[in-house]
Amino acid sequence: MSLESPVLDIDPLLDDPKTRIIVCCGSGGVGKTTTAAALGVRAAERGRTAVVLTIDPARRLAQSMGLTELDNTPREVAGIDRSAGGSLHAMMLDMKRTFDEVVVQHSDAERARAILENPFYQSLSAGFAGTQEYMAMEKLGQLRAQDAWDLIIVDTPPSRSALDFLDAPKRLGSFLDGRFIKLLMAPAKVGGRAGVKVLNIGMSMMTGTLSKVMGAGLLRDVQTFISAMDTMFGGFRTRADATYRLLQAPGTAFLVVAAPERDALREAAYFVERLAAEDMPLAGLVLNRVHGSGADRLTAERALAAAEALEDAAAEALEDAAADAAAEAADALDEDGARDEDHGRDEGDTAENLGTGRMVDPSPGNAVRGSADGTQEHQDRTEGDRQARTERLTAGLLRLHAERMQVVARERRTRDRFVSVHPEVPMVDVTALPGDVHDLDGLRMIGLRLAGQPAAA
Ligand SMILES: Nc1ncnc2c1ncn2[C@@H]1O[C@H](COP(=O)(O)OP(=O)(O)OP(=O)(O)O)[C@@H](O)[C@H]1O
Ligand SMILES: [Mg+2]
Repeated sequence: MSLESPVLDIDPLLDDPKTRIIVCCGSGGVGKTTTAAALGVRAAERGRTAVVLTIDPARRLAQSMGLTELDNTPREVAGIDRSAGGSLHAMMLDMKRTFDEVVVQHSDAERARAILENPFYQSLSAGFAGTQEYMAMEKLGQLRAQDAWDLIIVDTPPSRSALDFLDAPKRLGSFLDGRFIKLLMAPAKVGGRAGVKVLNIGMSMMTGTLSKVMGAGLLRDVQTFISAMDTMFGGFRTRADATYRLLQAPGTAFLVVAAPERDALREAAYFVERLAAEDMPLAGLVLNRVHGSGADRLTAERALAAAEALEDAAAEALEDAAADAAAEAADALDEDGARDEDHGRDEGDTAENLGTGRMVDPSPGNAVRGSADGTQEHQDRTEGDRQARTERLTAGLLRLHAERMQVVARERRTRDRFVSVHPEVPMVDVTALPGDVHDLDGLRMIGLRLAGQPAAA
């Protein structure tokens, strides 16, 4: 008997006008993007003015939502049923461009150019660990500030760990706040104002050593970058803090997505604990790609036993059939030998008929009797063959069913382990669809399952 947990009721959450932000988190590949997109479609078709911020959606899914360009602004999704008064916009996060936007917004034109052209900035903005997470939060803050949507659904980056999403902004902050940077910034602080000019005095003490290590050109780049970032730094911090507060606000709901596998659920458990520690509101857990069976009254053990019995029976029937066939063939040969004497027919021809069990002697007259006998034998044999074949196929099917039931049982045990640690967390199971989810109909199917209506799909 599996452990029970409260049911995660998606529709009331989507319908509640107080729900303003839904964040879909989880470890890599569990279905965060799919869940976010499916929630977007469902919310819109239930009347919400929704926007979904996706990160790295699979190409076909992106295309089906009209996301063919990375232009960093939400576009309306075509094909949404708007009869309930809702709509759906969607965008893919362009991390680099979001970073650039932040730079431009927070500095004057000259400084912005200096930063954007700086090689350190270019590598930082494209590849620094956590930048994508930070930029997702940044974009969320922007969308919220725009106030054009009453529900924002956020997908999170494909990090290995769900916790990265919450850790990244701090990590980026502590990088900007770090020892190395403090060291480089110290002269500027002494100078009282941030700027390239004032860096020079204090810097010159270190420059000799550092430029030997790093090369003079590189050092200059770092200094330019750091001093330029310094003016924005306050902005970064303030914004990261503001977004963090947004995530703690009552209108925000976190959904943790997990596959029914040990690692994903262990990760989900950490995340649930972390959200609690951060005062971030958890709506529940989506257990995605769960396997079920319409015939779950037949256990794996019984299915396997039945498969073995059938296979044994089929093998026996086959042996019997082979023995019968050999005996029949011998009889038939004798009989035909007698007939040949009577009618002077060609023996080879008859043997061939027997051998294939199909050909009918085309010559008129004798053919009538001969073929009537052959068809009877042939029917008996094909009947036997067919039965053996059916038995083998049935056995194969039973074995498949047994495997499926073993997967179901394993998933249930994994799920139970999570529930025993977090019995308070509401959950919903989303069964695995037969193929990938890459169009609006697929998203609607996921939406139905999210709403706990698998039978209607
Ligand atoms: N319930 C489901 N049934 C069938 N396929 C699914 C289901 N959920 C997700 N998928 C498929 O699994 C793949 C991974 O899903 P998705 O991209 O949503 O995961 P993700 O958590 O966003 O991954 P990443 O961490 O890489 O961003 C996709 O091909 C998607 O179509
Ligand atoms: Mg994804």
